Amino acid sequence: MFPAIFLISGLAPNKYVPLPLGTVTPKGWLLDQLILQAEGLSGHLAQFWPDVQKSVWIGGGGDGGLHERTPYWLNGIVPLAFLLSNANVTLNPVVGVYKAASPNSRVALNASRTANAKVDCGHMFPSIHDDHKAWAQHGDHKHPLLDVDLLAQVECYIGYILDHQSPEGWLGPDDATDAGAPWGRAYVLLSLAMYAEAKPEAAARVQAAMLQYNLCLYERLQKMPLVSWAQQRWQEMALSVVWLLDRGAAGEHEETMLTLLRLLHTQGSDWEAWFEMGTFPSQAGVRGANNHNVNNAQALKSAAVLYRFTTNASLATLSRTRVEKLDAHCGLPTGMFVGDELIDATHSPSRGIELCGVVEAMYSYTVMFGTFGEVSTLDRAERIAYNALPATWASPKGGDMWAHQYLQAVNQIEAKYNDPHVWTHDGPDAERYGLEPNYGCCTANFNQGWPKFAQNIFWLTPDGGVAVGLLAPAAVTLPPSAGLGHSEISVDTEYPFGDDVTISAKADTAPFPVYVRVPAWASGQGAAAILIEGQPSRDVSALNGTLVVAFVAPVGKTLVATLRLKPALRIEEWAKSGYSVHRGPLMYSLQIAANFTAIAHHYGDDDMSNDYDTDAASPWRFALVANSDDPSATLSFEQRTLTKGAAPFNHSGFPVVVHATVRSLPSWGIVTNAAAEPPASPACASGSCGAPQSVELVPFGSTDLRIGQFPLA
Ligand SMILES: *[C@@H]1O[C@H](CO)[C@@H](O)[C@H](O)[C@H]1NC(C)=O
Ligand SMILES: *[C@@H]1O[C@H](CO)[C@@H](O)[C@H](O)[C@H]1NC(C)=O
Ligand SMILES: *[C@@H]1O[C@H](CO)[C@@H](O)[C@H](O)[C@H]1NC(C)=O
Ligand SMILES: *[C@@H]1O[C@H](CO)[C@@H](O)[C@H](O)[C@H]1NC(C)=O
Ligand SMILES: *[C@@H]1O[C@H](CO)[C@@H](O)[C@H](O)[C@H]1NC(C)=O
Ligand SMILES: *[C@@H]1O[C@H](CO)[C@@H](O)[C@H](O)[C@H]1NC(C)=O
Repeated sequence: MFPAIFLISGLAPNKYVPLPLGTVTPKGWLLDQLILQAEGLSGHLAQFWPDVQKSVWIGGGGDGGLHERTPYWLNGIVPLAFLLSNANVTLNPVVGVYKAASPNSRVALNASRTANAKVDCGHMFPSIHDDHKAWAQHGDHKHPLLDVDLLAQVECYIGYILDHQSPEGWLGPDDATDAGAPWGRAYVLLSLAMYAEAKPEAAARVQAAMLQYNLCLYERLQKMPLVSWAQQRWQEMALSVVWLLDRGAAGEHEETMLTLLRLLHTQGSDWEAWFEMGTFPSQAGVRGANNHNVNNAQALKSAAVLYRFTTNASLATLSRTRVEKLDAHCGLPTGMFVGDELIDATHSPSRGIELCGVVEAMYSYTVMFGTFGEVSTLDRAERIAYNALPATWASPKGGDMWAHQYLQAVNQIEAKYNDPHVWTHDGPDAERYGLEPNYGCCTANFNQGWPKFAQNIFWLTPDGGVAVGLLAPAAVTLPPSAGLGHSEISVDTEYPFGDDVTISAKADTAPFPVYVRVPAWASGQGAAAILIEGQPSRDVSALNGTLVVAFVAPVGKTLVATLRLKPALRIEEWAKSGYSVHRGPLMYSLQIAANFTAIAHHYGDDDMSNDYDTDAASPWRFALVANSDDPSATLSFEQRTLTKGAAPFNHSGFPVVVHATVRSLPSWGIVTNAAAEPPASPACASGSCGAPQSVELVPFGSTDLRIGQFPLA
């Protein structure tokens, strides 16, 4: 029986439906991570980064180029604000010495991006922060910063955007003559959709604004068809139309909205043909499809979006095979693919992937799961979230979210201004940790990573139950629209730093099944079991890679079950590009000590918004003594302690490690300022290696510099 939330006019139903924003409350380490995000760049960009602070979206001159920055930022800050608000978090007001931006800060120097906004969404911040020149003149200022109030930021930006909708329906700066412009709006529309979910009292007004905008877009597309990135990102634009139809919010315009979906598809890039081709060439595919990493990460979900309004059954297969093709072409052990701006046919661990690609792929995989119910897409979303996402942040202190890269590499022996560099198409500072290395899109777009991941933990199932899809600590109170009254489910776990996932649930009106995802890697007897007090343990390892009914939630009384995982150590081979070490969802790597040199200061205290060049301060040329068929013969896992309140992905105090044996391999070279391809294995066959020595491999996501793909000794 489908609950009301599944009954959709005109569209194929989703297999699984995520819960509306505002129902989920993060807990445990996930809450700590979201707080670190809010107390890092996310909560402060509106105070000092011109592309948000003085954005064209609030009447200023910032983000004058593609008008993408504030949309990307809102797409993350809206869910972050409501998730933290549910957890009753009051963010720490940062009080301290606020230093002038250093002379080499682009933020301070770039006057073209700091034209005053008509509305000051920073009215809740001290005015001194608006004037970087004044800072520079006066030097250091002791200034208590007011609270970082994320909800107030959300209200100010969303309020301004809604209040300034044009009579025609357009939202934001008007690009009436630019056929490439509509894509940037897609993230504002997604933000509005989440805002409407979280604030039912505002839903009618927001839905009306979204509908009017899409009617306006429909008019414009008939006169001026999509080009360029607007073509390539058609499915992002389609998402808000689908969202309106799913809620019956298109009213008398339902047919027009369905026509708009078809128009977006026929004008947009043919990603289905592109991915089927599987060669990811640099020349354009049908209707502009090309090998840009972020556009491909977004387009992973094109078949899923298209399926909703075509019900073409072959799209489920295409949705799966594209992942296999991308993996075979250029897959990386972090779950991502090589895309140092453009996709390339290599598994080389020194080549990069862009942070925008990382967060867009995570989001695409969750949308794909919702539509087709392919459980492997949640495995993949987790693999990226627990490895690639945290790896691209670093600071001397460790574990905070003040400095990120544009490009991250699996084998990263330095992260600094590099000329020449091994990556293609990006500037020499693309691997630097900082505010906006290379280009500012990721500074805005990273914001969606953790919040959307948290929002996609729980899913409604077609048989009227609830699935714990992503394994992370959080609680949910179901909305009445799910048809289960105010039932409650809670997940308590240290996963991915612990192996037990405890689920408690209480039904409100009628019993319902509670599912849990058993990851694909949890295979082999004893690798996954469900424990319920008073019942025999149930081995579910034969059901790896599926959603399993953990129990049926009883009415009025809480039932508790634990999914006990016993992950085996795994070694994965990357064609001729070396071997990676994994256990459960985490990848383990050799941490290289990082020597940080701050080269620019942008905002806040000494340890807040800086740019850093980072050099290796410990050896990295090692071959791993291991047998890929029998990893536990030489590797051993050690569970340590995840301290409550500690940064989950810190470069010290690791909650889990893998003990390994390595041998130094002096012949491993450096090419264009990066580690050369890992030498062929067995690398020590010719006797040129050092004696075996013990090392600790640590979570990849915790490292600043590292080796993640080794040659075998
Ligand atoms: C947040 O506060 C509200 C109101 O006091 C309370 O009902 C709710 O349980 C609190 N939530 C958490 C996660 O503490
Ligand atoms: C200032 O910003 C503009 C527009 O974003 C950009 O074209 C220019 O290169 C920037 N200048 C500096 C010094 O970064
Ligand atoms: C279904 O999708 C496939 C793959 O894109 C396409 O080849 C086929 O023509 C579509 N079928 C219909 C009826 O549109
Ligand atoms: C990371 O660990 C170091 C060493 O224990 C600590 O000083 C630092 O505060 C931690 N980072 C965060 C964000 O908690
Ligand atoms: C379960 O594990 C086996 C062995 O590793 C693997 O071949 C299979 O694909 C997994 N099942 C799913 C559905 O992922
Ligand atoms: C760290 O970098 C600085 C600046 O390049 C250099 O002077 C110092 O010797 C380095 N320290 C180590 C331990 O490598």
